[in-house]
Amino acid sequence: MKLPYAESYKIKMVEPIKKSTLKERAQWIKDAKYNLFNLKSEQVFVDLLTDSGTGAMSDRQWSAMMLGDESYAGASSYFKLKDAIKDLLGFDHFLPTHQGRAAENVLFSVLVKEGDVIPGNAHFDTTKGHIEFRKARAVDCTIDEAFDTTLDHPFKGNIDIKKLEKVIAETPKGKIPFILITITCNSAGGQPVSLANISEASAIAKKHGIPMIFDSARFAENAYFIKIREEGYHDKNVREIVKEMFSHADAMTMSSKKDAIVNMGGFIGLRSEDLFQKASVYNILFEGYVTYGGMSGRDMNALAQGLYEGTEFSYLESRIGQVAHLGQMLLEEGIPVQFPFGGHAIFVDAIRFLPQVPREQYIAQTLAIELYIEGGVRGVEIGTLLADRDPVSRENRYPELEMLRLAIPRRTYTNNHMAYVAASLKNVYDRRDEISYGLRIVQEAPIMRHFTVELEKVY
Ligand code: F0G
Repeated sequence: MKLPYAESYKIKMVEPIKKSTLKERAQWIKDAKYNLFNLKSEQVFVDLLTDSGTGAMSDRQWSAMMLGDESYAGASSYFKLKDAIKDLLGFDHFLPTHQGRAAENVLFSVLVKEGDVIPGNAHFDTTKGHIEFRKARAVDCTIDEAFDTTLDHPFKGNIDIKKLEKVIAETPKGKIPFILITITCNSAGGQPVSLANISEASAIAKKHGIPMIFDSARFAENAYFIKIREEGYHDKNVREIVKEMFSHADAMTMSSKKDAIVNMGGFIGLRSEDLFQKASVYNILFEGYVTYGGMSGRDMNALAQGLYEGTEFSYLESRIGQVAHLGQMLLEEGIPVQFPFGGHAIFVDAIRFLPQVPREQYIAQTLAIELYIEGGVRGVEIGTLLADRDPVSRENRYPELEMLRLAIPRRTYTNNHMAYVAASLKNVYDRRDEISYGLRIVQEAPIMRHFTVELEKVY
């Protein structure tokens, strides 16, 4: 008998979580203006809002924190992290930042100008926000297969090379500061990008003299999928694949809150000394001095250790195995989910789940509310609310898919929690025909509205 995967760790410390009643939750979500970000965490039983900063650190990470060097300049913790980044990712230069979007802010301050175009594979919302804030445009070139949740494709995060070439051909020379590849592609469902696709895109970038930048929040999960799914990589180890992936990048931004398994932190990895010098000025301005950026010494120590733990095969196997376990339970109940399952989350196809709710009434948000009321499980809408309005026409932008994302924190919940989530969603699925309302916006911010939007029910 083939032995199943099992967690590559055991539990030393626990944090109690509390159940509530259906009646309490119905009131709490109403008080929260039907925005799950407004809930208090004690009002949530299983919190799948995000996998960002919600992972459990190891004893080795906690002990590394005690050795943190809090010197303002030249801290040993900075050099420890610099060595880990060079060793694992291959970048000579790096800048610490307080999280991923801060890395975007610093790097894009150097590179992105008004009128620029940045092609990529479904840019993450803060990334798109930092592009549009500078009056530039993010163009999504993800392959069409990503938008059919029933289609089995091993690398739904891939960039469509024809779409990419078209954008390059149609954009005036010098107006594309870089091509941005997000690994894994969060917005398409935590879907990986193959090395074949990365190297094809990189060859095109080189041909046109355009730099390649990776948004690397879940780079280790991407490497794991390459090892498991891509021809020619089964015998390579995850760290070799990571190195090969990054060999195609001129620079990278990182939200360390994901695959580096820390609660806060980020960085920029760079090859060019010149770009490093230019970005350093903005890092000092926005984040902090070059050798700490937005992080304390102890946080840099925990991050350096987390980069090693996050790129271990046995850890990735159990982490991605748990996500797939949840996906499999949902699939067996006939619940429509993005297939194959993503690395960090299961994405429920809300249009197929609740076809009776009109798109302008925020289908995936309606589903997220129903799941919360049913079981105290908090997911997040990845749909029209998140997509924001078009910056010019101010009309709602309707993305290809309306998804409810169930993001799984790393090393945090057990498979019993996954079974609980699956049962909660199954109960909603069984009564889906009785859900006869949608939502209307009462108040919204001009950009990144989903965090603070206030909604009411419409029947
Ligand atoms: N890039 C990707 C692909 C992300 O998923 C995120 C964050 C960021 C950049 C920004 O990083 O949060 O550290 O500033 N994603 C979280 C999520 C928030 O829930 O998917 P950050």
